[in-house]
Amino acid sequence: MKTQLSKIHTPVLLQELITHLQVKPNGLYVDCTAGFGGHSQQIANKLKSGHLTCIDQDINAINHLNKLFKNNNKVTVVKDNFINIDQIVSQQVDGIIMDLGVSSLMFDDPSRGFSYSHEGPLDMRMDEQGSTTAADIINNYSRAQLIDLFKKYGDVRFPNKVVDAIVQYREIKPLTSTIELANLISDCNPGPLARKHPAKVYFQALRIEVNKELDVLTEALVKATNCLKKGGRLCIITFHSLEDRIVKNFFKEASQTKDLYGKDVPLSKMSNPKFKLITKKPVVPTEKEMEQNRRSHSAKLRIIQKI
Ligand SMILES: C[S@@+](CC[C@H](N)C(=O)[O-])C[C@H]1O[C@@H](n2cnc3c(N)ncnc32)[C@H](O)[C@@H]1O
Repeated sequence: MKTQLSKIHTPVLLQELITHLQVKPNGLYVDCTAGFGGHSQQIANKLKSGHLTCIDQDINAINHLNKLFKNNNKVTVVKDNFINIDQIVSQQVDGIIMDLGVSSLMFDDPSRGFSYSHEGPLDMRMDEQGSTTAADIINNYSRAQLIDLFKKYGDVRFPNKVVDAIVQYREIKPLTSTIELANLISDCNPGPLARKHPAKVYFQALRIEVNKELDVLTEALVKATNCLKKGGRLCIITFHSLEDRIVKNFFKEASQTKDLYGKDVPLSKMSNPKFKLITKKPVVPTEKEMEQNRRSHSAKLRIIQKI
């Protein structure tokens, strides 16, 4: 089972996350992005009378988790978006984890449309019932909306040439395949092959928009922290700078004392912070992990604890 699982998806920062989560045998835990169960399995192994709720919005992950935990009554599997965590858990919990983004299996499955190097439909929905696909965005957003999207979520400084090519192309026929879009982007960025494929950042931006990843994360952080017991920990692994910035700023804000009167009033009354920042600097993978798992390169683990 171990070899099979690592072929599907190698969990990132596994030992570091499990150590920081401080799993209690009788505790209650939620894995918001259970995927193929790499982190969940380690948590479940440490439970005696405790319980783990595994959430994922991807049907393939859910089918896998249902098989993995079939005979384990300490684990419940829920297909949902973790933005609904407050409705999924019925009582406060000892620990919540998020390992954000897509799984290797999703990324490597051409039919999901996440990869710019495999022919597939321009889809990119993590939840196959989601209302908007990448093709909907590419074919229906205005020129200005596309420019804004690639700047904001792809960090592309000058996306105009690519966007103009998309707009011209779709006047003749809609863009429907990953390779069609990847080639169009490459044609706008000629020259020697750079270290990164030029389509990478455009695909990243589309994926974030299709799945509303940053909005979902922002709202879920508030809900997840409300779901923690005193002493409970929230551990989050991010893979790109935009989501890491959201987590970093939220954790910083939550663990600061605040002047309850505000800075315009001469009196001051400081509030006690509700959270303790466990990681002043993020935990990052070792050289060895990075060598063994390319996907781990950009991973950052941040943790806070409710006081
Ligand atoms: C990086 S993988 C997690 C891998 C997992 N930790 C493991 O060890 O197998 C991320 C997973 O989170 C899921 N996911 C991402 N955003 C989600 C959301 N908002 N709600 C529910 N699941 C989400 C994806 O479907 C994917 O399966």
